[in-house]
Amino acid sequence: MFEEGEERKAKYGAENVFDFSLGNPSLEPPTKLKRVLDDLINDPAPGQHAYMPNAGFVETRQAVADYLNKLNRPQFTADEIVMTVGAGGGLNVVLKTILDPGDEVIIPSPYFVEYNFYLDNHQGVPRVVRTKSDFSVDLDTIAEVVTEKTRAVLINSPNNPTGRVYREEELKELGNLLLYYSGKFGQPIYLISDEPYRKIVYDGVAVPSIFNMYNESFVVTSFSKDLSLPGERIGYCAAHPDISDKDIVLAGMVLCNRILGYVNAPALMQRTISHLLEESVDISLYKKKRDMLCDGLASFGYDFVKPEGAFYLFPKSPTEDDVAFVGALQEENILTVPGSGFGGPGYFRIAYCVPDEVIEKALPGFGRVMEKG
Ligand SMILES: Cc1ncc(COP(=O)(O)O)c(C=O)c1O
Repeated sequence: MFEEGEERKAKYGAENVFDFSLGNPSLEPPTKLKRVLDDLINDPAPGQHAYMPNAGFVETRQAVADYLNKLNRPQFTADEIVMTVGAGGGLNVVLKTILDPGDEVIIPSPYFVEYNFYLDNHQGVPRVVRTKSDFSVDLDTIAEVVTEKTRAVLINSPNNPTGRVYREEELKELGNLLLYYSGKFGQPIYLISDEPYRKIVYDGVAVPSIFNMYNESFVVTSFSKDLSLPGERIGYCAAHPDISDKDIVLAGMVLCNRILGYVNAPALMQRTISHLLEESVDISLYKKKRDMLCDGLASFGYDFVKPEGAFYLFPKSPTEDDVAFVGALQEENILTVPGSGFGGPGYFRIAYCVPDEVIEKALPGFGRVMEKG
């Protein structure tokens, strides 16, 4: 999609192409980032570019633990935190740590499509299950596919592509279900929560912590979205302080960070984010974009669940074939992604992390394509 967008921009002029295909944040990072970077670059302490413990700088991991301790009942130490190369790197670290070849991971759909490739990296097998019509977790579909081969359930909230935020009750019930099956099969079924959009929520919606609901859990996150730093490749994974076989799990995560070839997360960024853990871009700007897009599309008759978080809208495709509908939008130079690519055929994804003018100028095209049917 990235290349397609670039080609069209070269052909028609960047201002005439409305690229909603990628989750590449349009907002600049908070201004504090530059101040922190200036200070760090002028810091004369030697050894700042050297290798470090593979899990990351102790000071950074302690800062992350202190931050998590304000949000969660279980209390973390630096030992339970591994700094990673973004959330993508973190997910690969966790999956390599817990999976044996052929192990299955249950993924509620629609979902971030790279999960399939991450699983494949570690010979894991995806078991994709439906969510309900409001994209909430459907425990029945999960229960139907749990077997002794199930090693984990991988959730993402706030969700890409739906914008859904899972509720406390939903997560508690999921935790209870996994507790039951972990007992039945005599080994933990992990809950992995991918949360790079945790701070991007609207209308006072809270993102509950899975750590408060279930011990066999990992949170993976990054600063790609909330600080607009996707190119800097910095994130972390946190393992529950009471996870089973904790020493082996933690040692596995550290080793996997190294042997996947990451070795450690970027040093300068580790130092940087430890001063920015409470920061985020101005979320009200994304809310404005969401509202502009939702109001515009609703006025043309598009059908969607209003996103509660992240910066994606996942409307129903007005025609059955979502790929064809995305093709029709493309004729208007509006670039979106078919829902089939996220395990959600019959829908399409609009990434609205774009300048306001792009939404404003694209709306009439969305209207015309809807009218044509
Ligand atoms: C749900 C989800 N998980 C993980 C990632 C990867 O994030 P990162 O750039 O931090 O590796 C993305 C990126 O778009 C995402 O949407």
